[in-house]
Amino acid sequence: MKNPYPQSRLEPIEPLITLKGIHKRYEHKGKPIHALQDVSMEIPQGSITGIIGRSGAGKSTLLRCINALEKPDQGDVLFEDKDLLKCSREQLREARHHIGMIFQHFNLLSRRTVLENVLLPLEITGTLNTESRKYALECLTLVGLEERIDAYPAQLSGGQKQRVAIARALAGKVRVLLCDEATSSLDPETTQDILQLLKNLNRDLDLTVVLITHEISVIRDICHTVYVMDQGRILEQGAVENIFAHPQSALTKNFVQSIFNRDIPEVIQENLSSGPEWAPSDIVLRLIFAGETAKRPVISQLIHEYDAAINIVSGHLDHIGQSMFGTLIISIPHKSSSLDKALEFLSQQHIQVETLGYIPSL
Ligand SMILES: Nc1ncnc2c1ncn2[C@@H]1O[C@H](COP(=O)(O)OP(=O)(O)OP(=O)(O)O)[C@@H](O)[C@H]1O
Ligand SMILES: [Mg+2]
Repeated sequence: MKNPYPQSRLEPIEPLITLKGIHKRYEHKGKPIHALQDVSMEIPQGSITGIIGRSGAGKSTLLRCINALEKPDQGDVLFEDKDLLKCSREQLREARHHIGMIFQHFNLLSRRTVLENVLLPLEITGTLNTESRKYALECLTLVGLEERIDAYPAQLSGGQKQRVAIARALAGKVRVLLCDEATSSLDPETTQDILQLLKNLNRDLDLTVVLITHEISVIRDICHTVYVMDQGRILEQGAVENIFAHPQSALTKNFVQSIFNRDIPEVIQENLSSGPEWAPSDIVLRLIFAGETAKRPVISQLIHEYDAAINIVSGHLDHIGQSMFGTLIISIPHKSSSLDKALEFLSQQHIQVETLGYIPSL
């Protein structure tokens, strides 16, 4: 089957994994911890689904529920149409063959070579034979480690260790790969390499990927859909470009803005104040153009019709999925009579406007 996601991110036909009304409660020193509260999600075959939340939000607990490593107190976990909480041990074992998992700290066996690590799940399941050994070598080639099969984990970089972990998961012929903060201990460049590898595996093998992260840039870079979690609940969910264009909750807005915050030039950031304390002061605004609005000549219209004395401080164009995102930081004299009209115009154009603060007039 050709994977429809990389091209179109269309809505799914059939979910591969379905969670329905999952609750999970732990006890700590006699007090209950509601790790998951009424969590439902559908993970389509061939998709890359991201789950983002702060520490303690319940992400790892949720991921462990997907392969029934964790038993929810309430709810259903379906793999295709099989209920993993109600099926026989044999059926559960069979379903788990299709679900691989990778972790932040790789979980490799230090006394085994790269190849031996990759063969381990096949040994455990008693499926090791000439054919599967050949496939394990193919998996190591897929992740670019064909020349390091005899190395030990201590001789590898973090990125290479994660590649071994991915190859080990693939060698079991998994259909879905669960990634628990798989790039969190890697530097930015190696993170990009691993994300690109996951993207390629998704495209080439139709591998379904579910990844949890606390970094919105990971979601932006490879996910089709995203779930935002907080305190055991799903706050928001949707296609990544929609969530970036129209974040609803304060938490989601914070995540999204943390990406755009990197755009503020240092010289502006140093002088930025929360009030107009200079005479004259300029107000500094960040405009976020999403989708269609990014293509319209809004700024020239603004200057033309509202006679606004606008300084463009910085600008940036980004692609998220199929959508274009533009951020523009502008400054306008704080006392300008056309400021209110300009803001009203921007709002009518569905452009998100955020006040960053005030600077001495340029
Ligand atoms: N085995 C356990 N026993 C008791 N409490 C637990 C257990 N596992 C998780 N918790 C609690 O459940 C909540 C959710 O934990 P979880 O590990 O799922 O969060 P997380 O979103 O993965 O956080 P992080 O980003 O720090 O990894 C936390 O309050 C945690 O302390
Ligand atoms: Mg976790």
